Amino acid sequence: CPMLSGLARAAALRLGAPCARWLGSRAGVPAHVVDLRSDTVTRPGPAMRRAMAEAVVGDDDYGEDPTVRELQERAAQLLGVEQTLFVPTNTMANLICVMGHCRRRGSQLLLGQECHLHVYEQGGVAQIAGVHSHLLPDLPHGTLDLDELERVITRGLGNPYHPVCELVCLENTHSSSGGRVLPIDYLRQVHLLAQSHGARVHLDGARLMNAAVALRVPPARIVEHCDSVSFCLSKGLGAPVGALVGGPKDFIQEAWRLRKALGGGMRQAGVLAAAALVGLAEAEEELSRDHENARRFARGLQALASPHCSVNPAAVETNMVLVKVVGLPAADLCQRLQAVSPDEVAQTGHAVRVLLFPWTEQSVRAVWHRDVSTQDTELALRKWEFVLRQLGP
Ligand SMILES: Cc1ncc(COP(=O)(O)O)c(C=O)c1O
Repeated sequence: CPMLSGLARAAALRLGAPCARWLGSRAGVPAHVVDLRSDTVTRPGPAMRRAMAEAVVGDDDYGEDPTVRELQERAAQLLGVEQTLFVPTNTMANLICVMGHCRRRGSQLLLGQECHLHVYEQGGVAQIAGVHSHLLPDLPHGTLDLDELERVITRGLGNPYHPVCELVCLENTHSSSGGRVLPIDYLRQVHLLAQSHGARVHLDGARLMNAAVALRVPPARIVEHCDSVSFCLSKGLGAPVGALVGGPKDFIQEAWRLRKALGGGMRQAGVLAAAALVGLAEAEEELSRDHENARRFARGLQALASPHCSVNPAAVETNMVLVKVVGLPAADLCQRLQAVSPDEVAQTGHAVRVLLFPWTEQSVRAVWHRDVSTQDTELALRKWEFVLRQLGP
């Protein structure tokens, strides 16, 4: 998972990923698995699998796959852009957009220092696109300071010593701040600022639908303040593979060429697009439920009033909960939450493995998705309660 820090990866290797929701446990009863590591872990359900099996397909690299075309057209309407392009991953979608906007080697890209594009995408913008990144501190709500942004954009204007700022990248929802939603007025201001200095704005909208559901607005209301957007189908929407690039027609024509150069042209991709169409149709209902479950969990955890963790339910805007861990390393807490003991079964009547990654050394990020039900959320909370009680005061 590209979301993993080195710390989290090490923990993941220790924990071992489950291959089924019910795993045999050493406590002698089957353990129920609640996987809160990421919203990328979902498996396609029966409706998605049926749609994939029945998809009408063609060679999409010749533009002949009707299901991919249907997905691209439906997504263009939803995002309020002229066209979209189906690509294998959101990482590729972001890179294509950066390459589409930054046509000159050494162009400058401004972005938040913790954003996915900078931290978890292999520095593709440097190693492949020859783009120079300038990082700005992320504010707690996932925004950038507008004065600082203006200072950096204007600093080198007209000066041949400085790189030319071509692009600002934003991320919505903002993952490292715990799935925070960027305010629409902020998006508008960033766009105006960029435009007034000849730069453009790309939105990493891997979780754009979560933002739209949280704000109760059509996604197009968010995208109208950007020059391009990436949109992931394999997170909260639950499709197994895929993302979209959205923007004006000429931008998407160029995106097609860049996708080809990056090896992302796919053939009978309709089997994947069919799953994404099911995910899109169900998105609003599924994501609203994920957000409600995340809030329910945060409120429940706060009510436990444990000295070993703290959470701010007011900061839970979408499907993520950031928990501060106190008095033990976050990795140890994750270990305890995934282990099952006879004591747990005796005291709670359940054997539950809650899978989580440490987010930092002293925090854990829990992510809701369509494979975590309201009942799973309750079981996860009871497991936290059991583990926190065992840790004592
Ligand atoms: C905000 C954000 N952008 C981009 C990506 C990359 O998506 P993909 O795994 O499809 O390359 C992720 C993945 O977790 C993400 O969280």
